[in-house]
Amino acid sequence: MKHLSLAELIRERRSIRKCNSTAVEQELVVELLHRAARLQPIVEAGSWRVVYAGTPEARKRLVDCMLQQVSQSKLGKLIPGKLLDVFKKRVTDIPAHVIVMSNAGQDRLTNDRNYAAACEMMQSLQLLGWERGLGMLWDTESMIQNEGFFKGIGLREHERFVGILHIGYYDKVPRSRKRTPAEQKWTVLRGQAT
Ligand SMILES: Cc1cc2nc3c(=O)[nH]c(=O)nc-3n(C[C@H](O)[C@H](O)[C@H](O)COP(=O)(O)O)c2cc1C
Repeated sequence: MKHLSLAELIRERRSIRKCNSTAVEQELVVELLHRAARLQPIVEAGSWRVVYAGTPEARKRLVDCMLQQVSQSKLGKLIPGKLLDVFKKRVTDIPAHVIVMSNAGQDRLTNDRNYAAACEMMQSLQLLGWERGLGMLWDTESMIQNEGFFKGIGLREHERFVGILHIGYYDKVPRSRKRTPAEQKWTVLRGQAT
């Protein structure tokens, strides 16, 4: 594999929506998770945690949780079974899934800090994984933002669901999406003459 500088790694990592069937070793995910966590020494232990789904049974359980709300809703009952099966297969075919939750904390600031720390860890994990040939998709779809899903993944009372990283090896790197130039998000604060 080509060695990338950090800047290249950040620029070249892509979200992978189609991975191949190569198995992902749980040990590798754990190692990457350790390395991602070590990049944030000032973040308190307990700010976030993950739930891992790596076996065929666990993946099936995860997709059932993801579909719980949809398949029980009136509207969901109208979705053809075939379509649900396609979705189920697509998710269960992905070798590994890291579900991330953060600690809600006592107040909004702590809640946001812990959530941000979890997001930082997820991005580090994506980058460290990319270096090892792993592709990921960060999933926060509205379909999974409901109590049924939260209960299914074992979200505790003081926790906030952050997202799922779907993980696998890939054959092809997709093209990058268009980016907003940084200048368009840039305002200079000027001093005022007094
Ligand atoms: C906080 C966050 C949430 C995301 N949620 C989703 C999602 O729910 N569904 C999805 O397809 N992609 C999701 N993504 C992936 C983005 O769509 C993706 O990063 C974006 O298209 C840019 O592509 P790239 O990662 O290849 O640079 C999410 C990314 C982030 C950072």
